[in-house]
Amino acid sequence: MRTRRAKISDVAAIHSLVAHYAAQGLLLPRAAEEIRAHIGHFIVQEHGHRVVSCLSLESYGADLAEIRSIAVDAENRRQGLGARLIAFALDQARRRGIARVFAVTHAPQFFERQGFAAAARQSLTEKIERDCRTCPQQRNCKLVAVIATVIPERMMLPILSESAAPAPAC
Ligand SMILES: CC(C)(COP(=O)(O)OP(=O)(O)OC[C@H]1O[C@@H](n2cnc3c(N)ncnc32)[C@H](O)[C@@H]1OP(=O)(O)O)[C@@H](O)C(=O)NCCC(=O)NCCS
Repeated sequence: MRTRRAKISDVAAIHSLVAHYAAQGLLLPRAAEEIRAHIGHFIVQEHGHRVVSCLSLESYGADLAEIRSIAVDAENRRQGLGARLIAFALDQARRRGIARVFAVTHAPQFFERQGFAAAARQSLTEKIERDCRTCPQQRNCKLVAVIATVIPERMMLPILSESAAPAPAC
């Protein structure tokens, strides 16, 4: 199993992985053209020549990035691939000097096992501005924000705990 940055030739496989779980309501759908346009954000794992997992790491300025579209092929789940993808993404973030990485997820326990902690979405103003304010699900959103500190000495923004803040609108 090899973990690496994605290439244009991986677009179809990434699209298929994300579409599989989007159909189950576990991930947001991503169009093949959108994946192609942002292929530089994606990390994949391949087994032989087959792409079996993917993840997207998207920056919000110099200090913060988001993990999106994390998916492991159904046959390969619960074998440590997701954990390795996250470790690779956090290492990439560290190399780029990004201090914190977050995700907005229905599976916070998975992220917590990889060192993330629950966070209030109000602390992620960039995410709220970019996605949540225009999301049709914002009133019913059950997703949870989790965040990992990658470079502690470069942390600039406070992180509010869920208990310290009112429930977010989105
Ligand atoms: C969530 C997902 C990426 C995890 O990948 P994975 O390869 O199956 O996970 P791993 O085998 O690396 O598991 C790492 C740890 O997280 C735990 N874990 C895995 N999936 C979990 C989940 N959905 N909820 C809670 N814990 C989970 C595992 O038990 C394991 O714990 P351990 O280290 O104590 O053994 C994968 O199951 C998947 O593709 N799910 C469908 C798409 C999805 O839901 N994506 C996340 C949306 S935000």
